[in-house]
Amino acid sequence: MTAIRKAACIGGGVIGGAWAARLLLGGIDVSMYDPHPEAKRIVGEVLANAERAYAMLTMAPLLARGRLTFSESLKEAVAGADWIQESVPERLDLKRGVITEIDRYADPKALIGSSTSGIMPTELQRDMKHPERMFVAHPYNPVYLLPLAELVGGERTSPETLELAKAMLAPIGMKGVILKKEIEAFVGDRLLEAIWREGLWLIHDDICDTETLDDVIRYSFGMRWAQMGLFETYRIAGGEAGMRHFLAQFGPCLSWPWTKLTDVVDLNDALVDKIAAQSDAQSGSRGIRELERIRDENLVGIMQALKGGDGGKGWGSGKVLADFEKHLWAKGGGKREMPDFSQPLRLVDTKVSAAWVDYNGHMTEHRYLQIFGDTSDALLRLIGVDFAYVEKGHSYYTVETHIRHLGEAKLGQALYTVLQVLSFDEKRIRYFTTLHDAQTGDALATAEQLMLHVDSGAGKATAAPKDILARLRPIAEAHARLPVPDGAGRSVGQKT
Ligand SMILES: NC(=O)c1ccc[n+]([C@@H]2O[C@H](COP(=O)([O-])OP(=O)(O)OC[C@H]3O[C@@H](n4cnc5c(N)ncnc54)[C@H](O)[C@@H]3O)[C@@H](O)[C@H]2O)c1
Repeated sequence: MTAIRKAACIGGGVIGGAWAARLLLGGIDVSMYDPHPEAKRIVGEVLANAERAYAMLTMAPLLARGRLTFSESLKEAVAGADWIQESVPERLDLKRGVITEIDRYADPKALIGSSTSGIMPTELQRDMKHPERMFVAHPYNPVYLLPLAELVGGERTSPETLELAKAMLAPIGMKGVILKKEIEAFVGDRLLEAIWREGLWLIHDDICDTETLDDVIRYSFGMRWAQMGLFETYRIAGGEAGMRHFLAQFGPCLSWPWTKLTDVVDLNDALVDKIAAQSDAQSGSRGIRELERIRDENLVGIMQALKGGDGGKGWGSGKVLADFEKHLWAKGGGKREMPDFSQPLRLVDTKVSAAWVDYNGHMTEHRYLQIFGDTSDALLRLIGVDFAYVEKGHSYYTVETHIRHLGEAKLGQALYTVLQVLSFDEKRIRYFTTLHDAQTGDALATAEQLMLHVDSGAGKATAAPKDILARLRPIAEAHARLPVPDGAGRSVGQKT
């Protein structure tokens, strides 16, 4: 896979900071240039939010975070970078000047993306010596969670650049979509502008307040949009007769007088005051950081739900997350370093994330099973049962689990698991995992489990191949010399 090796972010505000977070959490070193005296603090805050979100987003082992350096000059920042992302304020003269300067100092092969929300790339690349590698990479806030970047070339951008940019974004969990032609505001902001204009009219005309308008979106078509967008949703609305029927039925409505989309409301002081007051009433009891955290938790939840879409293959942004996780497992989780077998194996280190706690503030029951399941997966990777193996049609399935709850895990608590193999044969592995509080070492839960090696196509248990068993045997033999863990072999409700 084509990957970014080193990135530079020019401009580290809301968007530049979030690009930096996306890249750093994707394991890429980033040099940042932003003359703002508080740039470090601002980027640091965005990064903290992003790390919190990633801890909830995936159980796949995150890559070691890239190194973030703040440069004294643009020239210093772009040195050695193969992806440079410009995110300075939305003014043509400023952006063109910055991009021309990046062009002067960067490696001529480095890709240069602009975060502009609407300026045509042809305008931005006008004074460049190597304009063929410059394009718009328009992201959506928060860049570290929302996968999309609209990739738009100018008159002098080469088509290969856009394809390369798309490929380079994939390993950091982003979905590049290439537009066929440049147009002001691209696709996303054109759509948003239209709905924004109409929304302003509805508030202006006192049809509803800001809260009602937001409710109309989030309890209805907003949910549809997150998973199928506009046209696929309407195709379903057409019923069995499909899209043509839908267009025939609703097309004539377009001439009805229910839209003001061509008129722009006068955003005068009175309307600004009205919107600000309604928005304060709607959301003023929560601070911006709190709203950001809620937004991030919700977005994580949506992506996780969509990861299971299409029968588990992943759908929309959930498919991008599934692919990102595959990449993470292959990079980090795929490590085959053999740990010390003479002790139970420490296989998973994790933290109780916000999405894992119940109404008591404690880790909810099924998350224990999730951690034990992740521990089983880690054991399997260690003996060679990885994605490639599973794709070839064989795997181990868990057929029995007995969990004992011994203590509570709270939000933010650091945890780890250790696993002891109890016995194995050519089809089965029986093992015992203990979940510990990382700070005190106390045992919080244990699980005794049995896995069966299966031929997934035939849906039958079958003997594991020799090479897998050869990797399992030394672990099992070493663990057989350890004392049987307290609680192994217990039945449910057994006294002492
Ligand atoms: N905010 C959004 O939701 C959003 C979404 C997509 C795209 N964008 C686009 O991203 C770009 C940045 O927007 P933002 O919201 O992050 O703005 P911002 O004001 O938060 O950040 C801009 C940053 O650029 C820095 N800067 C100014 N001149 C500079 C220079 N010469 N060199 C380096 N840094 C410089 C500023 O100090 C500031 O930190 C704009 O083009 C905007 O259209 C914004």
